[in-house]
Amino acid sequence: MPRETIIETRDLVKDYVDGHNVIHALDQVDIKVEAGEMVAIMGPSGSGKSTLMYILGLLQPATSGIYLFKGQNVLEFSPQQQAHFRNMELGFVFQSCDLLPNSTVYENLELPLIYAESDHSTRRKKILDALERVGLSHRVDHWANRLSGGERQRAAIARALVNTPSLILGDEPTGQLDQKNTEIVIEQLREIAGQGFTVVLVTHEGDIGQACDRIIRLRDGRVVDENGADNGQPEPNPQLALTLAESGR
Ligand SMILES: Nc1ncnc2c1ncn2[C@@H]1O[C@H](COP(=O)(O)OP(=O)(O)OP(=O)(O)O)[C@@H](O)[C@H]1O
Ligand SMILES: [Mg+2]
Repeated sequence: MPRETIIETRDLVKDYVDGHNVIHALDQVDIKVEAGEMVAIMGPSGSGKSTLMYILGLLQPATSGIYLFKGQNVLEFSPQQQAHFRNMELGFVFQSCDLLPNSTVYENLELPLIYAESDHSTRRKKILDALERVGLSHRVDHWANRLSGGERQRAAIARALVNTPSLILGDEPTGQLDQKNTEIVIEQLREIAGQGFTVVLVTHEGDIGQACDRIIRLRDGRVVDENGADNGQPEPNPQLALTLAESGR
């Protein structure tokens, strides 16, 4: 049975205008991600990965194109609708963990729920559930600034999960972690993806790409491959494949 398509972009374009220069950060990007998938976005520095992430997170407007989320073109939403959508459907995990340092883990996780207006006992249940998913139940009343780097990033994942969003977006979520903590965090994202959440993350690391179901590769703002598995083989060249097909070879 085909899975539900969570996100689909069509001809997504993002130009940055810098004085007289126009930078084509995204050039007609078409991607599709299905429910429950864990997808890596990879590509050289400057290829548009963060830009794509920000647009998918509605943190930045696109120049043109369509972004369907469960079939709705969310780029057409009003600012209020977009804010509500971000709160209910999206969870973010960034490279530099942005937990409030002088608050407890519990308080950090409670914030997004206060915006979502759930009552106290519902909030408590959601917070404990999210912490359990990332193996941090024993740190619920810990100050955020006393967590280890790995624990902090897991707390950030729990915070992204607490509203049970459909989609978790991560821009280099393990960028500041050592190998061991990177493995733990990726393993946890993997488990979460298996539990019905959808995960899209930007990474530079082949190992992380390999742990994902699929790799979308960008180069110069264009998708050059979207079914990649990081198997150590040279990147396929779609243009070459097309040329060979056209020439009948
Ligand atoms: N605010 C901005 N104003 C002008 N140009 C920008 C802006 N943000 C990004 N760019 C340009 O857009 C292109 C894509 O940038 P982006 O940050 O998406 O790349 P990236 O793939 O995330 O790179 P990295 O791996 O280094 O993080 C780059 O050429 C960058 O210089
Ligand atoms: Mg980036």
